[in-house]
Amino acid sequence: MSETAKLELDGKAYQLPVIVGSGGERALDISSLRQTAGCITLDDAYANTGACQSAITYIDGDQGILRYRGIPIEELAEHSTFIETAFLLIYGRLPVRAEMRRLSDLLTQNEMIHEDMKFHFEGFPPNAHPMAILSAMINASSCFHPRLLEGYSPEHFDLQAARLMSKVRTIAAFAFRKSRGLPIIYPKPVYKYTANFLHMMFSEPYQDYDLKPEVVRALDLIFLLHADHEQNCSTTTVRMIASAQANLFACAAGGVCALWGPLHGGANQAVIQMLEEIHTTGDDGSKFLAAVKDKSDRARLMGFGHRVYKNYDPRAKIIKAQCHKLLRQLKADDPLLAIAHKLEEAALKDEYFVSRKLYPNVDFYSGIIMRAIGIPVEMFTVIFAIGRMPGWIAHYKEVMDRKNGRIYRPRQVYVGPLLQSYVPIEQRAD
Ligand code: ACO
Repeated sequence: MSETAKLELDGKAYQLPVIVGSGGERALDISSLRQTAGCITLDDAYANTGACQSAITYIDGDQGILRYRGIPIEELAEHSTFIETAFLLIYGRLPVRAEMRRLSDLLTQNEMIHEDMKFHFEGFPPNAHPMAILSAMINASSCFHPRLLEGYSPEHFDLQAARLMSKVRTIAAFAFRKSRGLPIIYPKPVYKYTANFLHMMFSEPYQDYDLKPEVVRALDLIFLLHADHEQNCSTTTVRMIASAQANLFACAAGGVCALWGPLHGGANQAVIQMLEEIHTTGDDGSKFLAAVKDKSDRARLMGFGHRVYKNYDPRAKIIKAQCHKLLRQLKADDPLLAIAHKLEEAALKDEYFVSRKLYPNVDFYSGIIMRAIGIPVEMFTVIFAIGRMPGWIAHYKEVMDRKNGRIYRPRQVYVGPLLQSYVPIEQRAD
C-alpha cells in the first residue's frame, strides 16, 4: 500500500499521498490540497518544493552526487563528449553510432544563421553584453523558421533541437566578434562542435586559429559539465515558458535571461572579477574573506555555496583538476589560480563557511580555464548557456511530452490592502 502523510487542519484530517523518487526523495503530493482543505502551501524561493517529476538529472546534494540519466558525471567527464552527452540528456539514453552520425550531420547542416540575421547584430552598441545579444538573437532566429512558431511536434523535434544547439554557438561567436569590431568568421563543416566554436571565435579571415586538442577538450568538458542541473533557476524558467506551449527558441531565450543573473550563471564572470580585484589590491584573500563574513558588507565569496549541494560540487572537483592539467599543458601561469587556492583552503577551514556548508561550486575554477583559452570574461556566461542548451531542450521535451500537461501557475498568499477606494489625483495629499 502506498504511504500517506496526515495533515490536520481545523480539526479535520487529510491524507496526502507520499511520492517517492527513484533516488529515495520523498515528497508530499499536495496537488489537491486547496480543493480538499481550502489551503495552499507557502515556500518562498521554492527551497522545499518539487515543481515536477523529472527523469533527466539526479542530484544528491548532501553526498555531492550528480548523474545525467543515471550515469555519474565523473564517468561522462572521462569518457564522453558534449554532443554525446547532449543526446543522452535529450533522448534518455546513449546513442548508437548511426544516431551520433545523424545528430552530428544535423548540427553541421544547421550551423549557419540566416544571412539577414547579420543585420540584427549591427543594431547592438559595441559594448552590448553578449548575454543580451544571445537571448535576443535566439528569439529572433525563430522568426526565420516559421514551422517552429507552430509549436511542438514530435516529428520535427529532432531538427528543432539540433538547430537550436548548432545556431546558438554561431550566434555566440558572432556576438563576440561584433563586440570586438572583428569580421565575422563562418563555421566550417569539417570541424566538430566545440572546435567549430573556437574557430568562429578566434580564426581570422587571413589565418585559421590553431586548434590545440587539449584546448578543444577542456572547453568541450566545460560544456559537458554544464549540460544540465535539474530544476535550477534558468531550467525552471524554461519549463515555465514551455508549460504555456511557447516554442523551443522562446523558452531558450528566457532561459538565457535567467542564467545571466550573478547568483546563477553570471557567477563565473563575477568570480574572475572578484579574483582580479583581490589580486590588484595586493590582498592574499584574507581581507576579502573578512569582508564576506562581515554581514554589514554585502560581499559574497562568488563561486561558493549552492542551494542543493551541501558538500563539494562534483563538477567543481573535475573542473579544478582540468584547470591544473590545462595550465600545465599550455605551460601557462595564472596568478588568479594561486589566489583561488588560498581562498578555497581558508574558506574550507573557516567556521563561517563550514557551519553553512559552503563549498566551491562549478563556477569557482571554470573561469581560470576560460581565461587560459583566451575567452574574455564577458563571454563566460555565454559559454555556460551553450553548455546548458541540451539540458533546457531535454526539459522542454519533458514538459511537452506530459499527458494532460497543465500550464505552470503558482498561487500566492496575498498580503496587500484588501480593499481601497480610488482617490482622484487632486484629492491626494502631497
Ligand atoms: N559567500 C558568503 N556567504 C554565503 C555565500 C557565499 N558565496 N553563499 C551563501 N552564504 C551564506 C548566506 O549569507 C547565508 O548566511 P546566513 O544564514 O548567515 O544568512 C547562508 O550562507 C545561506 O545562504 P542563502 O543565500 O540562503 O543560500 P541560497 O541557497 O539561497 O543561495 C547561492 C545559494 C545563490 C548559490 C549562494 O550560495 C550564493 O550567492 N553564492 C555565490 C554566487 C554563486 O557562486 N552562484 C553560483 C551558483 S552555482 C550555479 O548557479 C551554476
